[in-house]
Amino acid sequence: MNSFLLFSHILLLLPLLTLGSPLSTNGRWIVDESGRRVKLACVNWASHLDAMVTEGLNKQPVDAITAKVASLGFNCVRLTYATYMTAHQDYLYLTVRQSLLKNGLKEAVDGILLHNPNIIDLPLIEAFKAVIQSLEKNNIMVIMDNHVSKPQWCCSGTDGNGFFGDEYFDPAQWEMGLSNMARFFSLSPNVIAMSLRNELRGPRQNVQDWYKYMKSGAEAIHGANPKLLVILSGLSFDNDLSFLQQKQVDLSFQRKLVYEVHWYSFTNSGIWSNGDLNEVCSQRTYKMMRKAGFLLDQGFPLFLGEFGIDQRGVNMEDNRYLPCVLSLAADLDLDWALWSLQGSYYTREGTHDMEETYSVLSFDWSQFRNVTMLRIISSIQTPLTGPGLDQVPAYKMLYHPLTGRCVLRGNTGKDVVTGRCLKSEAWIYDNGNLALHGTNSSCLQTDGEGKLAILGTDCSGIASKWDMISATKMQFSSKVQGPSRRPLCLDIGPNGRSLVTNACKCFTGNQLCDPETQWFKLVKSTRILTDEKSTIDGLMP
Ligand SMILES: *[C@@H]1O[C@H](CO)[C@@H](O)[C@H](O)[C@H]1NC(C)=O
Ligand SMILES: *[C@@H]1O[C@H](CO)[C@@H](O)[C@H](O)[C@H]1NC(C)=O
Repeated sequence: MNSFLLFSHILLLLPLLTLGSPLSTNGRWIVDESGRRVKLACVNWASHLDAMVTEGLNKQPVDAITAKVASLGFNCVRLTYATYMTAHQDYLYLTVRQSLLKNGLKEAVDGILLHNPNIIDLPLIEAFKAVIQSLEKNNIMVIMDNHVSKPQWCCSGTDGNGFFGDEYFDPAQWEMGLSNMARFFSLSPNVIAMSLRNELRGPRQNVQDWYKYMKSGAEAIHGANPKLLVILSGLSFDNDLSFLQQKQVDLSFQRKLVYEVHWYSFTNSGIWSNGDLNEVCSQRTYKMMRKAGFLLDQGFPLFLGEFGIDQRGVNMEDNRYLPCVLSLAADLDLDWALWSLQGSYYTREGTHDMEETYSVLSFDWSQFRNVTMLRIISSIQTPLTGPGLDQVPAYKMLYHPLTGRCVLRGNTGKDVVTGRCLKSEAWIYDNGNLALHGTNSSCLQTDGEGKLAILGTDCSGIASKWDMISATKMQFSSKVQGPSRRPLCLDIGPNGRSLVTNACKCFTGNQLCDPETQWFKLVKSTRILTDEKSTIDGLMP
């Protein structure tokens, strides 16, 4: 019997975070005071746009919103803000009502009076604090992200907010803003980190100033509140930290530094829908590793602070990009923050009550925009490994990034299906076999084209041998050929759950072919297997 199964009936209660105990870093991991890994699984919540009021308070009570965040399994929010809220005299004393009216947002005032009357006459920073306190009630950690100086939608290369010395981006004011925020929230136990500046960019950006200001900003935060993690973003819209291969940031303190990178399909617009997806994904992954992923090997945590898709499923580039990002996020067990929570903005780029479609919540903030997407995202929420999580010897999950599911034994014991990754089977890939850990003789086999993949006892025959092929190495190809004379690859069956073998996709040089149903990633885990129900399950139809 599979020894891992012995664990499978233990109900594993993930320890609740003790908010207030500071986090630090241990090599590439973020850890709590006991040294145990804390994985940041965050969602972005905007509070930096024109009125500098956290979005959505005109649509739902703040406690209802934060309870939803918690119910979805996010343990943290990347809460954005603008420097002017905390370090510009014309804005410092504005109340929520005044700030909204100044921006012509009378209807937003009415919405807030209806749903969150308590905050309407608070100064902006006190309203921001009320949001943080509501998150605290739900045990949600907060990263305060300095998103812009002048409040507005972010980002373009020429918006005056892009780099130190730009029209609105005064370095001294920025530094004062960082220390003001660090000090003001030093007694908020769930504020665990501050990121220095979102998406540096534009004609002024340069590496020399980056080192200079990242050092002064990090020291300003640490001086004001030494408990906080400090998060540094790269150049070119936070796509490039490659200069750190040559030179580190010289700081007076240790074990608090985290790096941040962003990755969207529109980071490289056009390539996802217009190329062999195996090639595109492997090249983008390689670039991501060269520009930022290498930092993990240097011993720093890397926070994927923004990624996401149009959750209506209508953007082909986004749809094709997501499984690629998820395969890397799962493989590296990254800390991350999804863009975004907000289903709407009070105003964005001149449009009042504008809808956000890259969002977890619907336009009226009462529903989830796309439950399928939430279930997919939940597959990367739980940490797989790291300090304190080495509960069992390392094994592999066979992760299917398109669906966010993992390969498990089916009911008959002979078939295999995809299901929740928390229940993943422990796989070993060895000598061409995909075998169940701890068993001698349960190897995945092809039974022919279009047929169910099965677990069999003959591990030496060619039906049990698998190569990892294509540029991504995410297609598992049998040496057995089908009638089409193409090798057979693991695939998802017509019912969406079972595993079958079909002719390997993308072997015909079709530029637009999409192999993603055949993508499987072997992902390392040392986590105890469990029957624990995730909160997402309750949402499933
Ligand atoms: C939800 O997201 C999935 C995955 O991206 C997509 O395929 C689907 O079309 C979306 N569904 C709806 C109803 O928006
Ligand atoms: C594996 O199989 C061999 C031969 O059938 C047997 O002698 C051995 O005990 C088995 N080992 C395990 C761990 O089941």
